[in-house]
Amino acid sequence: MHAASVTVDPAFVVGPVRRRTFGTFVEHLGRCVYTGIFEPGHETADADGFRGDVLELTRELGVSTVRYPGGNFVSGYRWEDGVGPVDRRPRRLDLAWHSAEPNTFGVDEFMRWAQASGVEPMMAVNLGTRGIQEALDLLEYCNVPGGAFWADKRRENGVEEPYRIKMWCLGNEMDGPWQIGHKTAAEYARVAAETARAMRMMDPDLELVVCGSSGSQMPTFGEWERTVLTETYEHVDYVSAHAYYWEEDGDLASFLASSVDMDHFVAAVAATADQVRAARKLDKKIHVSFDEWNVWYQHRAESRPPAGDDWPVAPVLLEDRYNVADAVVVGSLLISLLRNTDRVHAASLAQLVNVIAPIMTEPEGPAWRQTTFHPFALTSANAAGEVLRLAVDSPVEETRKFGEVPVLDTVATHDAETGEVVIFAVNRSVTEAIGLDVDLRGFPGLRVAEAVTLANPDHTWQASAEDSTSVAPRPNASAKVADDRARAELPPVSWSMIRLVRA
Ligand code: AHR
Repeated sequence: MHAASVTVDPAFVVGPVRRRTFGTFVEHLGRCVYTGIFEPGHETADADGFRGDVLELTRELGVSTVRYPGGNFVSGYRWEDGVGPVDRRPRRLDLAWHSAEPNTFGVDEFMRWAQASGVEPMMAVNLGTRGIQEALDLLEYCNVPGGAFWADKRRENGVEEPYRIKMWCLGNEMDGPWQIGHKTAAEYARVAAETARAMRMMDPDLELVVCGSSGSQMPTFGEWERTVLTETYEHVDYVSAHAYYWEEDGDLASFLASSVDMDHFVAAVAATADQVRAARKLDKKIHVSFDEWNVWYQHRAESRPPAGDDWPVAPVLLEDRYNVADAVVVGSLLISLLRNTDRVHAASLAQLVNVIAPIMTEPEGPAWRQTTFHPFALTSANAAGEVLRLAVDSPVEETRKFGEVPVLDTVATHDAETGEVVIFAVNRSVTEAIGLDVDLRGFPGLRVAEAVTLANPDHTWQASAEDSTSVAPRPNASAKVADDRARAELPPVSWSMIRLVRA
């Protein structure tokens, strides 16, 4: 068994736990919208056609923000198609996912759904096939009270009060050659700066996200951020980061260490932003919106859009089934997002329902939780107060991708009001358990209120509509506090949460 020790001290604070860390993403892609969040006629659907079982699971997941409507989809989207009388809305081809878009769900439906689920919307504008004017039209529709064409259209459509959406993404993954309207960094920087400037003229209170890189493996990574931020720095608040991870060629050890890449990714983007800031002698800091992250097996057949002449509505696409190891990686990526809370001010698990998602649905049938649901829900529900910088002494194991990596990946939060300390910990080792020893002398008199572990002797175990409970996190009876030291055993390939309260 490995032995690892951690010291937790209230004086070492990284920054606050941000609710926006627990965002997700709804794209018009596959069955995320249609038969995902929206299925009129479903036995749980409300008068708007929103599935009640999905609304319930969304709340249980603890989602804060939802990014919409894409993703690659947004780069060809005409938002006007999705407003007004439903029977007059056109059907369009969605080139990104080779699907047909019926437009029966659009901005107003999304905003009603966001209200019903209690999430903050994060809206994306199309900078692929469109530009400044269409972004302004959408902003006017959403945020201007009235007295102008699109604002009055919204009122005609039955929405008197403006939505006043705060967070806006200036396009999506414009660095990716797969993107409709893909641009060079210089081309994108120009249009993003001008769009941001114009949007702020209409609504100065916006928080704007400029596109960063679609992954740390992108050939333009680094240079893209430098060029884009040099041009847009004054006009935006966030630069986006996207990252997907998967187990490649059976290399489980590297996969379990995916958060090493996420940590480096954030550090590199923050360093570039700070260099631009220093060179320009500016005060404002740009933060990272990690607005797409997850495990995604992109090589699987279901990740390929349908081919040929058929343009189906809501095809089965990207419906990855997640196993225990995938859930452990999701837990570990959340640990990384929390650890980087000083620079990552928003994040979105991509996506929410059916498409690489923690929540799955059967059309006309039940909704169920994937393995990845649990670490997200528990972290969102229990991380509170401030994130602490930990002193970690962990054994290392060799990985093919990242070299030697600590087997223990961990973070802790401290809520000064309640006195609660919560430790989130992943054992990345494929073979060895970890005996964890936490020095709590900075927080005398704590006891274990709850300790749970997600693990399975078979890390390839997956949930299904029939059995989605076998792998729910179980109480970890080994977790104990004595003499201001917490001790627990963490099985191999596991994610754990230990909640400590005043005795
Ligand atoms: O989330 C799936 C896709 O991944 C999104 O549409 C795109 O932005 C990214 O490449």
